[in-house]
Amino acid sequence: MGDAATFMIQGLDDSDRHWQIPARQKERAILTLAEQVNVAGIAPRSGRRPYCAAERQPIIAAMNLPALDTLLGGLSPRQFLEEYWQKKPLLIRQAVPGFAGVLTRDELFDLACDPDVESRHVRREGEQWILEHGPQMRGRLRGKRHPWTVLVQGVNLWVPEGDRLLHHFDFIPQARLDDLMISYAVDGGGVGPHFDNYDVFLLQGTGRRRWLISDQQDRALVEGAPLRILQNFEPTHDWTLEPGDMLYLPPHWAHNGIAVGECTTYSIGFRSPTAQELGTEFLGWMQERLCLDGLYADPDLSPQTHSAEIAPRMIDQIERMLAGIRWTRADVAAFVGEYLTEPKSHIFFDPPEEPLKRKAFARALESRGFALDPRSLLLFSEAGFHLNGEAIEIPETLAPQITELADHRRLGAGSLWTPALLDLLHGWYCDGFGGPDEA
Ligand code: SIN
Ligand code: CO
Repeated sequence: MGDAATFMIQGLDDSDRHWQIPARQKERAILTLAEQVNVAGIAPRSGRRPYCAAERQPIIAAMNLPALDTLLGGLSPRQFLEEYWQKKPLLIRQAVPGFAGVLTRDELFDLACDPDVESRHVRREGEQWILEHGPQMRGRLRGKRHPWTVLVQGVNLWVPEGDRLLHHFDFIPQARLDDLMISYAVDGGGVGPHFDNYDVFLLQGTGRRRWLISDQQDRALVEGAPLRILQNFEPTHDWTLEPGDMLYLPPHWAHNGIAVGECTTYSIGFRSPTAQELGTEFLGWMQERLCLDGLYADPDLSPQTHSAEIAPRMIDQIERMLAGIRWTRADVAAFVGEYLTEPKSHIFFDPPEEPLKRKAFARALESRGFALDPRSLLLFSEAGFHLNGEAIEIPETLAPQITELADHRRLGAGSLWTPALLDLLHGWYCDGFGGPDEA
């Protein structure tokens, strides 16, 4: 209570082509946390798809909802965005008071061993780094000879509490959110000194982790290593995080997290597509919609000296034909909606085996409300609503409720369940995109 959070103010002078960040400025300050607010307990967890709820271990400790004034150490979202976001790190002591994670160690290991889930096992043997992609084998998760860590990506897709935790960071637009990764490490374990190209919040779950960070410009990597390991790491700050503490790092800050005893770390990561990736994806999208008139024609053809030559006037004509490829802002908006809601390639939805009929579905929503499946992505823009990679037609009258669903990922039981809304949601439910709220 009334704890103090140290935060540093330090800009990054970054010449990387994807990130333009203000020039170096150095200062230090001490921020006193506002009085901790009361935090509400979260409802019991519902099961992840492959496991039956009854098989699951009880949660390590009740998860507290991070109220924003503790999550950002007393800063408002606006202050955080103006002063820190993409600019400088922020250490927040007790960002989530009482936080002990959303999964037990065994549940995390179950995910790591699941072929549907992305995971990495990293260990260091002397000077050598060894990386093994999932699905992991149980034996690997019992290693004692070398420090190791296992990192499980996309936990929010499988664990509803993980999805809820991720969405406590909605003060950053959902379109920028990527996923929740959870790492478990034995004493001394970690992925080594490195930098990431994206922003990340590192929330300490169980145990303690020592974070060393630096704004060094030397980004040379160890050659031949299976991981991106910095050759020369010169940390300028050294903090040990306790459960519930959180460190925000902007892109390109060098960092190394070393477990002090066994620990788990929750990484809330953001997506930062490169211009190259956006360009490639957009051209693919355009290709499917391209509709050009005309046919190459040369009624005025005259003899040319070299029959093998592609004559300049042939290139002229093709250049004119290709100049017909055009796109509008509406095309860009439509593309962005599809692109940002497209589920990752390993994601599949599970339609209910015996779906509730429309009437029973209506009764279920009246008593429990409707929630999007953690795997569903629903966003909107000037191009309308997009759900899981597709544009969806929403009658004007439903737009406010679907907007609410997109923002909060659920509609409460007391919503106005009109026949049009029920029809729409029943269709989504039958596709596995959401269903009666189980929270
Ligand atoms: C970890 O959780 O061990 C790694 C997270 C990171 O460095 O980005
Ligand atoms: Co990192």
